[in-house]
Amino acid sequence: MFRTSALTKIYETGSVRVVALDAVDLTLNGGDLTVLLGPSGSGKSTLLNILGGLDHATSGQVWFRDLELTGLGDRALTRYRRDNVGFVFQFYNLVPSLTARENVRLITDIAPDPMSAEEALSLVGLSARLDHFPAQLSGGEQQRVAIARAVAKRPAVLLCDEPTGALDSKTGVQVLEVLDQVNREMGTTTVVITHNAMIQRMAHRVMHFADGRLVGDARITDRLAPSEVAW
Ligand SMILES: Nc1ncnc2c1ncn2[C@@H]1O[C@H](COP(=O)(O)OP(=O)(O)OP(=O)(O)O)[C@@H](O)[C@H]1O
Ligand SMILES: [Mg+2]
Repeated sequence: MFRTSALTKIYETGSVRVVALDAVDLTLNGGDLTVLLGPSGSGKSTLLNILGGLDHATSGQVWFRDLELTGLGDRALTRYRRDNVGFVFQFYNLVPSLTARENVRLITDIAPDPMSAEEALSLVGLSARLDHFPAQLSGGEQQRVAIARAVAKRPAVLLCDEPTGALDSKTGVQVLEVLDQVNREMGTTTVVITHNAMIQRMAHRVMHFADGRLVGDARITDRLAPSEVAW
């Protein structure tokens, strides 16, 4: 689904030069749920943002299927992102003045082949919360609305940056169950960044980053169900 070649991202801030990604070569297979682990500052979010078309590489190449993302201008990159990518972040980024249903409709109104907002919210177990505002939902429920919003357009790829970072174990597990279900039922290629090493046990594949490099890459043969993951 993705391939990178010598993917490099350098940030220059004043006189400080940070090599956030240092010539990374990797492939991500379609349908996999991949977990990215690594210390703070190791380049995980930078990689996710470039794969998702939110940011440009400094050098090197990234392909999504046959499309070279590193060859695209801003307009084409925006179109790629809109048509193919769903994002889930640590903080849910819901619009506070809109209900759960309306938050999801923001996306389903503009996507080419979306499911209905009701269907997406049912997928994440929130059929009974359609007309609740974010402030009337728990943190885990808000994150599930954010996931419903991300998957409603049936994206090929779901990119999640610390989706359980703000949640306790029990609520976090519910969110992981939804991600696992979307991956299984819709075949959505899923990448999850986490600081929680337990979460790798539910992945198909685990990649470790350090200092902007891929330093470990393993397939998980004895996957756990999300309900068996606890922290
Ligand atoms: N916009 C930016 N400008 C300058 N430097 C940046 C910027 N974004 C990230 N960096 C630097 O790039 C490096 C990699 O950052 P990145 O956010 O990818 O790390 P991370 O692995 O996601 O860390 P964390 O686990 O803390 O989220 C860090 O050293 C960071 O300080
Ligand atoms: Mg990060």
